[in-house]
Amino acid sequence: MFAGRRQQSKFRLGNVLKAASLGLVRCCSYISAFQGEVKSSEDLQKANGRVQILHLNSSGSDERSWTGIASKMFFTAYKSRNCHHIIKEVNLWDKELLQYDLSHVASKMRMVTGEDKPSDKENFEPVEKMVKTLFSADKLVVSCPMWNYSIPYVLKQYIDCVVQPGMTFRETSSGPQGLLTGRLLLLITSSGGDYSTGSMKALDYQVPYLKDIFGLIGFTDVTHIYIKNTAHKKRDELMRFIESRCLEEAAKF
Ligand SMILES: Cc1cc2nc3c(=O)[nH]c(=O)nc-3n(C[C@H](O)[C@H](O)[C@H](O)COP(=O)(O)O)c2cc1C
Repeated sequence: MFAGRRQQSKFRLGNVLKAASLGLVRCCSYISAFQGEVKSSEDLQKANGRVQILHLNSSGSDERSWTGIASKMFFTAYKSRNCHHIIKEVNLWDKELLQYDLSHVASKMRMVTGEDKPSDKENFEPVEKMVKTLFSADKLVVSCPMWNYSIPYVLKQYIDCVVQPGMTFRETSSGPQGLLTGRLLLLITSSGGDYSTGSMKALDYQVPYLKDIFGLIGFTDVTHIYIKNTAHKKRDELMRFIESRCLEEAAKF
């Protein structure tokens, strides 16, 4: 799977180089579907060409959080191999983050239909900022414990903020098309039980959902570190598993 991904990125790079030599590479070439769309080259600027990784952290803050331990271990290993890459963490439990409510939905609807007032643009600005941050990432890491077969509400709120037509995906005659393409996604998830096999699989509204929703906006190249059965396994065993998976993925991501 990973060899396949490396081949794919070589293929992508080959195509980009070919297109560049033919003068076909355009900056920020996606088409605006509504006024709120992020579309300037400024939005896509990379920090002096340095690779940027965005970490959406919905793990518990406590040092016993398995996804928290794993993401720390992953980034330590990643950083030791890629010391010039920029890692930006968004702590989704931060109360200062936007609380997305019906006023944002109403502003967005008026922006879509062109009936917006200046206050709508202002109201929607924090959402645009979040979308810009997402666009500036070359790689995305999402750490997420399972909550009630699904994801913690803070991650769901983030998703509701950034999954916006005309901003992160567009509708086409053949269905929705993600705009955040060419980026890698690493999911670091954990659950008390094991949802990877048998009848438990049907109850997993966490990982399939994360893959689908991030896939919708363009993140189709997904790697997964799954820390399962945390309620039943010994701490040492889980720690060994986390360490080996994090080192393995940090070397490839
Ligand atoms: C609010 C809440 C709901 C949970 N729901 C489930 C669940 O539906 N299925 C499950 O297997 N574990 C569930 N768990 C257990 C966690 O998924 C498990 O302890 C996981 O390892 C937590 O990851 P963390 O240590 O990174 O927070 C729940 C835990 C909490 C706090």
